[in-house]
Amino acid sequence: MNDIIAFWANALRQNWGLDARLTRLDGEYDLNFLVRATNGQDYVLKVMRPGCEAELVDLQVKALEHIASEAPGLPFPTVFPDLQRGYLPRIEDHEGVPRLVWLLECLPGQCYAKSAPKSEELILKLGRVLGATDRALERFTHEGLARGDFKWNLTQAGWIEQHLDAVSSPARQAVLAEICSEFNAISGKLAGLPSQAIHNDANDYNVLVEAEPGQRPGVSGLIDLGDMCAAPRVCDLAIAGAYIVLDHPQPERALAALVRGYQAANPLRADEVELIWPLLRMRLAVSVVNSTLMALENPDDPYVTISQAPAWRFLEDQSVNGGLMPARLRVACSLPVTDGAERIHAYLSAHRGQFAEMFGQGLKDVPIGSLSVENSVWPQNPFHMPLAEAARVGEEYGTEFWLGYYNEPRLIYAEPGFRKGPWKASDRRTVHLAVDVFAPAGTVLNAPISGRVEAVENRDSHLDYGGVVILHHETPQGDPFYTLYGHLDPEVCDRLNPGDPVAQGAAFARLGDVTQNGGWAPHVHFQLALTTNGMRANWPGVGDPDELELWHAVCPNPAALLNLPDDKVFYRPTDKQAILQGRQDHFGGNLSLTYDDPVMLVRGWKHHLFDEWGRPYLDAYNNVPHVGHAHPRIQAVAADQLKRMNSNTRYLHPAQTAFADKVLSKLPDHLEVCFFVNSGTEANELALRLARAHTGAKGIVTPDHGYHGNTTAAVAISAYKFNKPGGVGQADWVELVEVADDYRGSFRRDDPDSAQKFADLVDPAIAALQDKGQGVAGFIAETFPSVGGQIIPPKGYLPAVYEKIRAAGGVCIADEVQTGLGRLGEYYFGFEHQGALPDIVVMGKPIGNGHPLGVLVTTKEIARSFDNGIEFFSTFGGSTLSCRIGKEVLDIVDDEGLQDNARLMGDRLMTGLRQIETDFGSVGDVRGMGLFVGVELINPDGSEGREICKYVKNRMRDHRILIGSEGPKDSILKIRPPLTIEAEDVDMILWALRDVLAEVGDYSPPPSCDHDHHHAGCGCC
Ligand SMILES: Cc1ncc(COP(=O)(O)O)c(C=O)c1O
Repeated sequence: MNDIIAFWANALRQNWGLDARLTRLDGEYDLNFLVRATNGQDYVLKVMRPGCEAELVDLQVKALEHIASEAPGLPFPTVFPDLQRGYLPRIEDHEGVPRLVWLLECLPGQCYAKSAPKSEELILKLGRVLGATDRALERFTHEGLARGDFKWNLTQAGWIEQHLDAVSSPARQAVLAEICSEFNAISGKLAGLPSQAIHNDANDYNVLVEAEPGQRPGVSGLIDLGDMCAAPRVCDLAIAGAYIVLDHPQPERALAALVRGYQAANPLRADEVELIWPLLRMRLAVSVVNSTLMALENPDDPYVTISQAPAWRFLEDQSVNGGLMPARLRVACSLPVTDGAERIHAYLSAHRGQFAEMFGQGLKDVPIGSLSVENSVWPQNPFHMPLAEAARVGEEYGTEFWLGYYNEPRLIYAEPGFRKGPWKASDRRTVHLAVDVFAPAGTVLNAPISGRVEAVENRDSHLDYGGVVILHHETPQGDPFYTLYGHLDPEVCDRLNPGDPVAQGAAFARLGDVTQNGGWAPHVHFQLALTTNGMRANWPGVGDPDELELWHAVCPNPAALLNLPDDKVFYRPTDKQAILQGRQDHFGGNLSLTYDDPVMLVRGWKHHLFDEWGRPYLDAYNNVPHVGHAHPRIQAVAADQLKRMNSNTRYLHPAQTAFADKVLSKLPDHLEVCFFVNSGTEANELALRLARAHTGAKGIVTPDHGYHGNTTAAVAISAYKFNKPGGVGQADWVELVEVADDYRGSFRRDDPDSAQKFADLVDPAIAALQDKGQGVAGFIAETFPSVGGQIIPPKGYLPAVYEKIRAAGGVCIADEVQTGLGRLGEYYFGFEHQGALPDIVVMGKPIGNGHPLGVLVTTKEIARSFDNGIEFFSTFGGSTLSCRIGKEVLDIVDDEGLQDNARLMGDRLMTGLRQIETDFGSVGDVRGMGLFVGVELINPDGSEGREICKYVKNRMRDHRILIGSEGPKDSILKIRPPLTIEAEDVDMILWALRDVLAEVGDYSPPPSCDHDHHHAGCGCC
């Protein structure tokens, strides 16, 4: 091999004048080399197999030249002429055999097959490149394009029909036979389309992807024109599509993105778009038949069959709705969803006001009620709609006539059947595609327009339609459209049959009652559809908010048929962009927003949140909703108290002492006195005052990178704030000590004395305060530093520190805002883990579950020192409402076993994360206790992976999981969900994190190529 490399390096020098290091690349028949030239450039040298048809290589060279001149911006490699200005010299190899040789530019990037994520944005860019390529090739001619019988020419794909019996499984043969018959059905149309030069093999190894630093990935190369031929352009698109859909989590959307991109560069006609789906399937059929035949020829090569697996997975996937694909792709191309769509819209608009009134009365003045995510709380639990609630939905709008919106995102569709994916936070269909008319059961329905019965059924399962009728109508030009009426009295099934005519204005059904209509408050769900392809009688009544373009086209607003203006019934959720703009206009720039694409959240339940479109998110970040979002007991206690009175601590109320008793029951006996305030900040401010009052000193020792609040004094003890660029800097009464971080700090986990060694760092801090005359008022620390990076100090650290502080006369303050109240699972407070006894304990955030509340607890002696005759008063601290809520939170933690749940779920999470740590190089450390967890991400050199962390956090949000990032270099993922989290949610976090970290493997550092599938010119290595 070395001889061959030396030979071709020499040939390169002689013919192209380049000195270079050559590395062999894979190639089925040809010799391909990656060329690293001393001029700093990379090339690919292709030495064609002996006897290779010169015409086919010439075809590629000429096509590349043509593209370069027609569309110089397209990512195709340049071909470099030799010293004689020839592009394709014939050079004798080391055995004296003449070979055609050409030198190409080596394009950057890695194969699409190995890049991740395969986002719709990237696929759209690929579509654009392919469309522009076909445009550039439109006028390209070459004799080599007429390839005679060529198995990869999709117009000739019918050859596989004679080989279907090579496929052993009868079920698979049937799949292929069906694809062939669909192909035969379109072959006439295909033959009628103009033929042109096409790339013909934009497979996932021929597309290169590159992300410029800080940019989103784009297509950096489309390589290997070896399969070029003449065919209709739509074949090129279908072939690319055949690879894009494989193993894509959302193949339909991926294909639509590809087609949308293609369309933007090279507009297709509707008759071409209709061919994409059958052609795509035929291409996959050709692939599997071809490799089956190859397997028969090479029975020992397992790769041949393995390579079929993704294609079979796709072809046999029942969840892909092929019937809907033409509509989906037409919409992606901004073409009318059906040939008659524009005429139907014109007809309906023109006759608005002339249709028969469905309820015998005009609906213009009927009120409209919203069941949207934002406006309504039906159902209370967005993951479960009990029959009792379904029967009462919208009761606030009365029992007479009222309308329900089209395009309204609702959470009332709560059953798992409405979601796509295994998790509670998976994609969910929420957006209503019909208009509802609520009216008393038994109200008669008249047909707004004449038609015939397409379907009539009683769908009697839980929360289904009950009686349902679909009518078929036609415009005067004969364009069909359909209307659906759900939640009817099923007696309609006894009277109507498919095919029966229904005259305009005819009373054809009546509204079912709750026992007949699926269980809902009586109403009709009235939906219009322009096609039933892919739906038949099973129309989705609600759509995924991320597929609305499709659903608006297939099932448009039916207002015209109700003689209503479209706007009256068209729901518009709050516009996120407008809210964002409002924030920018009216708030300070340092009021930060999480995520590159911020989320707007309008509902919550336990550990899930919902945006304005009803998209669910798993909340794995927020510790304030300690017992879960929208907890019914918190709602009840708050409402109950607000109905009575809400006052302050100047008056007696049993709620104050009840709350104090509950708090103190969780603490060591020496802590006996409570102060109620409004926030963690206020509690820490007060802690400073108590410490100073008790000691007469001012100085405070505190760990670096800590956070204790946002007021002047709280910031002064929060290095996380005062030490930031632009921060106020360190006060002379504050001394910092290193955080007891045994992963990155001065003393590591393998050091058995690390706790004492970290504690000893307090000595010089005490000395410094004393030298400055500040004295030692105390030591304050987050028991487990949180913003510092979710750190668990080595056991024994705090007692050792406390001993030193007390010896210097100071008091010891434990800030348990992050760690307290059972989050740690094994311990109710963090100081218990340390075996330390603080003099002051500060609680905040979770103790109010969202209600502003802070609590400080201390000893009788310290409280006495503070009681100097000046009143202590916090207007809202300890309000009746706050006390009731605070006690309720602590009671719920006990009653629902949430501390225990934190331990169990924390263990599950940590076990999974530790496995992830071993599997992914970018995970440096996993640490935590209960549901207080940190995952430190690192660069290949072990340094803090800030960029990786940012990427992971944003991608987790794309997976609908909210987590945070922390640490001095913002390189630590912070996982800190409400204590209600369940096993399936923990599993979702682990699944998504694996998925995202796999992308990071490709993200930073660049991947190392495994050489198992290499086309010359691939920039993988
Ligand atoms: C450890 C710690 N202490 C105090 C505070 C301040 O609490 P608040 O924001 O309620 O004032 C925070 C807030 O993040 C905190 O994390």
